[in-house]
Amino acid sequence: MKVTVVGAGAVGATCADNIARKELCSELVLLDIKEGIAEGKAQDMMQTAALLGFDTKIVGSTNDYSKTADSDVVVITSGLPRKPGMTREELIGVNAGIVKSVCENILKYSPNAIIIIISNPMDTMTYLALTSTGLPKNRIIGMGGTLDSSRFKYQLSQHLNCSPADLNAVVVGGHGDTTMIPLIRLATWNSVPVTKFLSAEQQEQIVKDTMVGGATLTALIGTSAWYAPGASGAALVESILRDEKKLFTCCVALDGEYGQKDICLGVPVTIGRNGWEKIIDFELNADEQAAFDKSAAAVRGMNDVLKTL
Ligand SMILES: NC(=O)c1ccc[n+]([C@@H]2O[C@H](COP(=O)([O-])OP(=O)(O)OC[C@H]3O[C@@H](n4cnc5c(N)ncnc54)[C@H](O)[C@@H]3O)[C@@H](O)[C@H]2O)c1
Repeated sequence: MKVTVVGAGAVGATCADNIARKELCSELVLLDIKEGIAEGKAQDMMQTAALLGFDTKIVGSTNDYSKTADSDVVVITSGLPRKPGMTREELIGVNAGIVKSVCENILKYSPNAIIIIISNPMDTMTYLALTSTGLPKNRIIGMGGTLDSSRFKYQLSQHLNCSPADLNAVVVGGHGDTTMIPLIRLATWNSVPVTKFLSAEQQEQIVKDTMVGGATLTALIGTSAWYAPGASGAALVESILRDEKKLFTCCVALDGEYGQKDICLGVPVTIGRNGWEKIIDFELNADEQAAFDKSAAAVRGMNDVLKTL
């Protein structure tokens, strides 16, 4: 198996590191437009192989897409990250051009690849990748809800004083600070609804902290976070290559599901060897569906900006 990660910055390098440590593929290509950075980080990671005991061969490339040929999965992280005070949406102008050209270059050498989009604004970049490549919809997966759901579990675990791994909790909708919807009504602690253990105030706080999870870290670090985003990308790669059919919230093309069409938005999907394979209907209640529709309207507005670029 072969995987390419485009963008050897904070998120791309962390994602690649996770993929290599787990030996998800025999060859891993890290590609960046900036001279030398991908080769340098690839070599640095290879120098951990003897210590960590993995066999994945990591190759760096400065914009030479021939090295990415015949990749089974490609993770796109190239583009600007946000700085403190910025929204993800402000990145659209620069990142749309990057994501479109990266997709074109990738498909020249790996026409059968499954593509995971991480670059922001992720919902719109996923829609752009889908519409500009014309690939079957199951091969384009946006990574946002996977991260947001993991952040949701972290926030819940802090209030419940429990292991995040014992929690089932998902965030659906867009990947923006105001468009994501943490579904606290459906969250469980080993199958018991978390709402049984949390006051209304605590629930409200958890939802609020989850929604601004990325912005909180951007303010603390000075740029957007990378450990959980990189691990989230690698978790999707793992579910694809090992055909695990795990359930993740991913940004995928909707065709009537959750009441929406002609849009890519975060919903629970199974991830396996064919990319995203099945959308699971969580039967939102009226309030949740209204929030989902509002989220879709905001993302649609952002998608419309693509026409003006
Ligand atoms: N979807 C999510 O959940 C999520 C989470 C975190 C970050 N992000 C997004 O991921 C992206 C990367 O974030 P980061 O922190 O790694 O940024 P970064 O600046 O550390 O790295 C980005 C890398 O992309 C490279 N790049 C730029 N244009 C390129 C091109 N045309 N081809 C190849 N490489 C190119 C840059 O040289 C840089 O090394 C940002 O858009 C950020 O907002 C998304």
